[in-house]
Amino acid sequence: MTRPLTLLGIESSCDDTAAAVVRGTSGAAEVLSSVVEGQTSLHADFGGVVPEIAARAHAERLDGCVAQALAEAGLSLAEVDAIAVTAGPGLIGGVMSGVALAKGLSAGSGKPLIGVNHLAGHALTPRLTDAAVYPYLMLLVSGGHCQFLLVRGPQDFTRLGGTIDDAPGEAFDKTARLLGLPQPGGPSVEAEALKGDAKCFRLPRPLLDRAGCDMSFSGLKTALLRARDALVAEKAGITLQDRADLCAGFQAAVADVLAEKSRRAMALYMEAQPAKPVLAVAGGVAANKSIRASLETVAAEFGAACLAPPLALCTDNAAMIAYAGLELFEAGQQDGFSLAARPRWPLDTTSPSLLGSGKKGAKA
Ligand code: KG4
Ligand code: ZN
Repeated sequence: MTRPLTLLGIESSCDDTAAAVVRGTSGAAEVLSSVVEGQTSLHADFGGVVPEIAARAHAERLDGCVAQALAEAGLSLAEVDAIAVTAGPGLIGGVMSGVALAKGLSAGSGKPLIGVNHLAGHALTPRLTDAAVYPYLMLLVSGGHCQFLLVRGPQDFTRLGGTIDDAPGEAFDKTARLLGLPQPGGPSVEAEALKGDAKCFRLPRPLLDRAGCDMSFSGLKTALLRARDALVAEKAGITLQDRADLCAGFQAAVADVLAEKSRRAMALYMEAQPAKPVLAVAGGVAANKSIRASLETVAAEFGAACLAPPLALCTDNAAMIAYAGLELFEAGQQDGFSLAARPRWPLDTTSPSLLGSGKKGAKA
């Protein structure tokens, strides 16, 4: 039996400054503290995350977040076993802030340093929250990422497909902007969709005619823009009901694409004959009830469980980085002070890289 480890995690790859402490062993760990300081208000006037503003905010706030995470866990730095930090992929200024702080803490305390891939943090979260057994299928779906990963171990990922342009969260945010709804777009479009009829506007289901698990969401946004402009040309504006119907039509299209591509990814995953099949979802878009319901239906078709971590662990946080660090540390990974911050860092280096780079930086 491996001894429980205590890991400090640091995350600063996008617009959340975060630190957390996690304790336990691989597949059996608990979150002792998780501090996340969002930056939504800092970027609100710019229609997206401004990398320079994000980097500065991370540099100013990271040490406070670390101090708070340690205090909430009731520990000093001397009591942790190792320090895990997001070393990419992401907005490089923010990643560099986190890596520099982690190196400083490691040098000062003598604690081992572990560089973690942000996407691995998301992908391993079902092991932290639900003790998911390898191999499982992960759909990572947020404002910056969209990919299917076959997860076999903390360093063993196969990407089955992903978006070739926008991420779905990005498409939700753009849709909200086109329809005059507040940011972040996901929750506001979802709320409007509840009042609308998805059948009024039949929007396209991009790439469903193409084999495989790759997806595309930018055409959907263009189709929505055209539908809106056609209404404006026809009757000099859109009614509140039109807006709700457009939101419902858009959400149904995203849900259909994700469900059908998940079906294909599940079929590939089931070839590995997993003992306890799992379709796991992570990322902010996993909060969408109608998308989640479609994914639950797909999982059930294959006799698999559908796991979605609680929202606080679905969206960017440092507990997932600490936990991924714990599994990597157990597996013997340790990085030196040459650890580099990487803007791009695909989890699966054997599959061809994805195109596109969203508002939140490179999609890896
Ligand atoms: O994972 P996350 O917090 O950050 C990253 O993108 O890394 O995801 C944020 C994204 C935003 O684009 C937001 O609009 C979307 O997730 N989102 C939703 C919902 N809640 C958040 N999309 C659809 N439905 C929701 N309920
Ligand atoms: Zn993320």
